[in-house]
Amino acid sequence: MEIDQKKIFLAAELLRKGEVVAFPTETVYGLGARLSDARAIQKIYALKGRPADNPMIVHVAKKEEILSLAEDIPRDFFLLMEQFFPGPLTVVLKKKRGVSEQVSSGLPTIALRMPSHPIARALIESLGEPVPATSANLSGRPSPTIREHVLEDFGDKLPLVLDGGPCMVGIESTVISLVHKAPTLLRPGSISLDELEKVLGKKVEIAGKQEAPMSPGMKYRHYAPKAKVILFDEKEELMAHVQKKLLKRMILSTSLSVPGLLSRALSFHSLYHALREADQKEVEEILVLCDPMVKRNLALMNRLTLASL
Ligand code: TXA
Ligand code: MG
Repeated sequence: MEIDQKKIFLAAELLRKGEVVAFPTETVYGLGARLSDARAIQKIYALKGRPADNPMIVHVAKKEEILSLAEDIPRDFFLLMEQFFPGPLTVVLKKKRGVSEQVSSGLPTIALRMPSHPIARALIESLGEPVPATSANLSGRPSPTIREHVLEDFGDKLPLVLDGGPCMVGIESTVISLVHKAPTLLRPGSISLDELEKVLGKKVEIAGKQEAPMSPGMKYRHYAPKAKVILFDEKEELMAHVQKKLLKRMILSTSLSVPGLLSRALSFHSLYHALREADQKEVEEILVLCDPMVKRNLALMNRLTLASL
């Protein structure tokens, strides 16, 4: 990918001045600030309308930066880092004392990720400091996978939105916590439970079965378009619903396309794009066919379920 060094330099300069900028990552676009700037981090919360008790992921470019942010790092972390960094994985570790309270909403832990996207990496390297960032959408809306989505939510409120074209992965990183007795999956993503278990050589627990959500972010409404999202197990059920009432609808599925109805492919890559397109087209209902393949996909089911609440 061609990188516009001038733009990267400008973005780093804006971050140094306490501004917030948006940039592409391989998962979704992020809205970032400078780690040492508590006021700028606060600005992200305000811009997004994000609840203050929902911590942020700190993005790093180098392995050494991780050592300066976390402590009591278990062996499991190094196994994961070896295999998946840089890439769409976030790991929650014990936070080192003295590291920003703001990013972790007062928790004793810190979520760390090393993105693989060349623009994200260039920005963090140019700044020379880790970048706390969150998905660049208004709180509750689908995450942005192209620059235009970021502009849709923030208009001219951001001084700069770096352009990297469409994000390769299309859904947010897998989040795993290593601060519990067993490694625990907090948010499913494109790196699957199986892959994590294979690399760690042990079972990974799935969060959410307990009463209190371990990842504060998972208790809020998420990924939601304005249209109502309805999930169906069977094609027949979905078709019967279509007959009921005349509404503007979109069908999301891996295979089904109905003549005369707006149909979009269901995949990590296309999901958020389709949800936002539905809003632009003033679709009233999004009907999702959850076939067995979709049902086996933890990450996709997680986003669809949250979008349908
Ligand atoms: O792919 C991604 O992860 C994107 C790109 C921009 O890197 N970022 C992203 O950030 O999705 P956000 O803020 O939308 O989601 C971060 C998730 C939330 O569910 C939050 O609660 C969780 O990570 N999280 C952050 N710090 C945590 C911590 N210390 N302990 C547990 N969960 C944490
Ligand atoms: Mg988000």
